[in-house]
Amino acid sequence: MPYNLLQGKKGIIFGALDEKSLAWKTALRCYEEGAQLVLTNAPVALRMGEINKLGEAVHAPVIGADVTNTDDVKKLLEESMRHFGGQIDFILHSVGMSLNVRKGRAYTELDYGFTQKTLDISSLSLHRLLRTAWDMDAISEWGSVVALTYIAAQRVFPDYNEMADAKALLESIARSFGYHFGVKKKVRINTVSQSPTRTTAGSGVKGFDAFVSYAEKMSPLGNATADQCADYIVTLFSDLTRMVTMQNLFHDGGFSFTGVTQQVVEQMMQSEVGGEEVQEG
Ligand SMILES: NC(=O)c1ccc[n+]([C@@H]2O[C@H](COP(=O)([O-])OP(=O)(O)OC[C@H]3O[C@@H](n4cnc5c(N)ncnc54)[C@H](O)[C@@H]3O)[C@@H](O)[C@H]2O)c1
Repeated sequence: MPYNLLQGKKGIIFGALDEKSLAWKTALRCYEEGAQLVLTNAPVALRMGEINKLGEAVHAPVIGADVTNTDDVKKLLEESMRHFGGQIDFILHSVGMSLNVRKGRAYTELDYGFTQKTLDISSLSLHRLLRTAWDMDAISEWGSVVALTYIAAQRVFPDYNEMADAKALLESIARSFGYHFGVKKKVRINTVSQSPTRTTAGSGVKGFDAFVSYAEKMSPLGNATADQCADYIVTLFSDLTRMVTMQNLFHDGGFSFTGVTQQVVEQMMQSEVGGEEVQEG
């Protein structure tokens, strides 16, 4: 249900690849709430063509930009400001890619060239974006920037691989730049730490389905969906959360603060009983 929370606001959404993408769902919700949008993704992702459907649905231009390329980011911000006829009120950074995961290399066997690329795409890109916007004075006073992250930044999920390090760096950049942008222009910068969600990036992680069902059982409210993530991000772009900045905000149905749940205990007990039976037999 729309509440007109973003009426009159102008924002850029990074990272809508297909309809499963967290960015795709967020663009739809922002539009529903009255925002004007620009969509962007890497040139290679634009070639898939899916994003143009979203562009039509939310009446937004699609501008290609590789987040590892400062000239691309600058051009994107310039073209967006021209399109909006002024500064940008909100930005969603929904970008991530692990080269080692893609190439099947374990954390103990990292290729450092791949790792540098992962950090450049998934973490430093936030700094590059914020710094370019800072230099161009592209974000309006009380603007809001959100980047998406995962709890592997705080706790070990072995198959999340070097993305865990990438997310830790991403969250740190949000905090550090959040300080400077807050002092300078009252711009707030936060990360949203989302439940595992079936998207192209998410599904690349080894054993992802088991991951999703474990998190489901370990969350008092269950896993947060992509649509619910979009709802939450809308509130962070709205004027209702003006004093929230430099935070890593868990959007995970309570997973992050749960030690164990009855469901998991019961499952462990069942498998122990099963194990004893097997041993006795
Ligand atoms: N799916 C999950 O389980 C989950 C959970 C927590 C956080 N996240 C985070 O949410 C964000 C969005 O991921 P998603 O799950 O929607 O998957 P997704 O695959 O739909 O989105 C990832 C996006 O990153 C873009 N991208 C990759 N390299 C790029 C580059 N060089 N320049 C510009 N864009 C580039 C891709 O084109 C894609 O659109 C990521 O940061 C991801 O780590 C995902």
